[in-house]
Amino acid sequence: MNLSTVEQPALESEIEELEGRYSSSNPRSRMQLSMARRVLPGGNTRVALYYDPFPVSIESAEGSRVIDVDGHSYIDFTNDLTAGFYGHSNPFIVAAIRGALDNGISFGGPHRHEEALAETICSRFSSIERVRFCNSGTEANLMAMGLARAITGRPLVLAFLGGYHGSFANYLDVKTPLNVDKSWLRFAQFNDEEDVRRVIEEDGAQIAAIIVEPMMGSGGGILARPGFLTALRAIADECGALLIFDEVQTARFFPGGLQDQVRVRADFTTLGKSLGGGLTFGAFGGRADLMDRLDPSRPGAIGHGGTFNNNVLTMIAGQAGLTKVATAEALHAANTRGDWLRRSLLSAAGERGVVLSIGAFGSILSLHFQPIAPRNPAEIATTPAQRKLFHLDMLLRGFYVQRRGTINLSLAMTDEDCSAFTEAFVGLLDRYSAFLPGDNTRCKDGSHGS
Ligand SMILES: Cc1ncc(COP(=O)(O)O)c(C=O)c1O
Repeated sequence: MNLSTVEQPALESEIEELEGRYSSSNPRSRMQLSMARRVLPGGNTRVALYYDPFPVSIESAEGSRVIDVDGHSYIDFTNDLTAGFYGHSNPFIVAAIRGALDNGISFGGPHRHEEALAETICSRFSSIERVRFCNSGTEANLMAMGLARAITGRPLVLAFLGGYHGSFANYLDVKTPLNVDKSWLRFAQFNDEEDVRRVIEEDGAQIAAIIVEPMMGSGGGILARPGFLTALRAIADECGALLIFDEVQTARFFPGGLQDQVRVRADFTTLGKSLGGGLTFGAFGGRADLMDRLDPSRPGAIGHGGTFNNNVLTMIAGQAGLTKVATAEALHAANTRGDWLRRSLLSAAGERGVVLSIGAFGSILSLHFQPIAPRNPAEIATTPAQRKLFHLDMLLRGFYVQRRGTINLSLAMTDEDCSAFTEAFVGLLDRYSAFLPGDNTRCKDGSHGS
């Protein structure tokens, strides 16, 4: 069945009906948005959380659940776009923060908690010999790119089309006006070594760094294919550039990040999201000889500041998270649970003749209604209408998912949560399979289990 020629008008009317049910089921969320619109542009302060007709407004969260202002309880498969990996109000993290509250939360001086978290990070990530903290993944990436340019004395950075390194380094749309000066960027296709070599041939001597997500997150949950990261390491070495791995999302897969698994050593690694234990966090680290250019006791040191870089609560929550929650066993269990979910969704779709592929890795799943998972963002074929259908229908079934079709497991999740998700997805397929692409053959597994 060919969706684009046969079903599009019918799909639109299904979505209209779905939107009507969604709107009447969420009157308080709608009201909350209109109140917020008076003081926040579009009622919004983080674009990723906006979707039409209006987002559900969250009242509270606990464990693997979020509850909205209309009283609906959802199993949370968004998990704050991976930042909520430890689950809501994890007891170890809550205890650590509570224990810290009466001791002062903004010291304005160095303290042992920053050293403790730095020690933990350096011992987990083999390529991180020294680390600096900041306040977001965006900041971490801008710092890593800026440092690479300052240290090498070269002006350019090679990045990938569809990569997302933060609000000011957003290459999903390279023309976005808030991106920092774009004149020093060069772009290649993700997962395409030849395209990288093309850029290097043109500008290799001027390239300070190659920055890459080992798995594109916002770009569609696209894992680097085997050998691509190794090739980038070799190319960086050949042309004298530094290699930056943005592990803001992928650090959750293994104690030492995805780079440990693929055995490629980055010069700089950037971190963020869940590693702050659910509080505001970013970090960048890497080779001691490079990072020590920030050592303020050295002549000619590069200054790096930030009022909240060593924010006491974040340091303490981050340390509790990495030492007590994100153990190697817990990460492995989450990846295994993700693989199980991946297999059961694929088989549910296959049994109903719906074309589905699932990209990403382990505890992150990225659903695409297309036969082969995309190898770069240009290959994404799932339409906005299909995404909306999946999103609104799963919300109405009690599953807090993202419009972009990414499913993020958390450490608070159980096998029962994942079984319930599969059951709901089966309900969606049974109702809407005629409106989703299918060829009456079993779908192909384009996924990447852990
Ligand atoms: C891979 C990656 N890098 C960087 C960032 C930016 O992090 P932050 O939102 O903390 O600035 C994100 C956020 O989604 C991300 O997914």
